[in-house]
Amino acid sequence: MEQQIIVRVAHSGDVHYSTTITDEMASSAKARGTGIAKRTPEYVAKKIEEGKSVIAHTADGTWVGFCYIEAWQHGQFVANSGLIVSPEFRKSGIAKKIKQTIFQLSREKYPNSKLFGLTTGLAVMKINSELGYEPVTYSELTDDEEFWAGCKSCVNYEILMSKDRKNCMCTAMLYEPKSEHTPELTASEFKTNSKLYERFMKIKQSKLLNWLTKK
Ligand SMILES: CC(C)(COP(=O)(O)OP(=O)(O)OC[C@H]1O[C@@H](n2cnc3c(N)ncnc32)[C@H](O)[C@@H]1OP(=O)(O)O)[C@@H](O)C(=O)NCCC(=O)NCCS
Repeated sequence: MEQQIIVRVAHSGDVHYSTTITDEMASSAKARGTGIAKRTPEYVAKKIEEGKSVIAHTADGTWVGFCYIEAWQHGQFVANSGLIVSPEFRKSGIAKKIKQTIFQLSREKYPNSKLFGLTTGLAVMKINSELGYEPVTYSELTDDEEFWAGCKSCVNYEILMSKDRKNCMCTAMLYEPKSEHTPELTASEFKTNSKLYERFMKIKQSKLLNWLTKK
């Protein structure tokens, strides 16, 4: 029988999951060998207490997944960050449900903000496209120093700084609340072109790495 997974806005009773969440974030980043902004259990606990996060768990309380909201530039920009799904529950649509829930929560809390994300993950790009996000250049993201300071703990930080914060391994995606998006169209376009997009991302990343090695 398939297990029931509950996806909902987290509350103070969920703070005890914080260390499990940050441990999984760290080990997933290590396994992927990619960069990630490090989060502490205290930071995750704060997001939970503030009602700015979404949690997934089984009916018996086993932790399944998480994501949280961060606001930048006095709320002009909002990011849904730290998406993570426990390895044994992956590839069954949990991340998609978490992202849909946190997207709704972000739109309710910050209806006029631009939503953005930086990611190297194809799954996240796919989900974001379905929500109406589009790939953009870094110049369209927040210029809030505090946001970019979060990249300091990423293994690719040197690349980001060498490129004057104009480019790095991650792809930037943006959702603009006032634009007339048709998410279904964007999603199907993404599906058609996803192999091409993956290749483009790999070429970009290998060019950045070559450039760094030659430097
Ligand atoms: C990325 C991650 C959150 C995906 O979680 P998940 O629950 O397995 O994702 P879903 O099952 O909801 O999949 C969503 C879509 O992405 C696709 N997808 C999932 N993992 C994928 C992968 N590794 N590569 C390519 N596509 C993938 C799915 O097929 C699905 O597409 P579909 O709607 O066309 O079927 C999970 O693998 C994870 O926690 N990874 C480590 C942390 C991480 O990378 N976080 C993202 C940081 S930006």
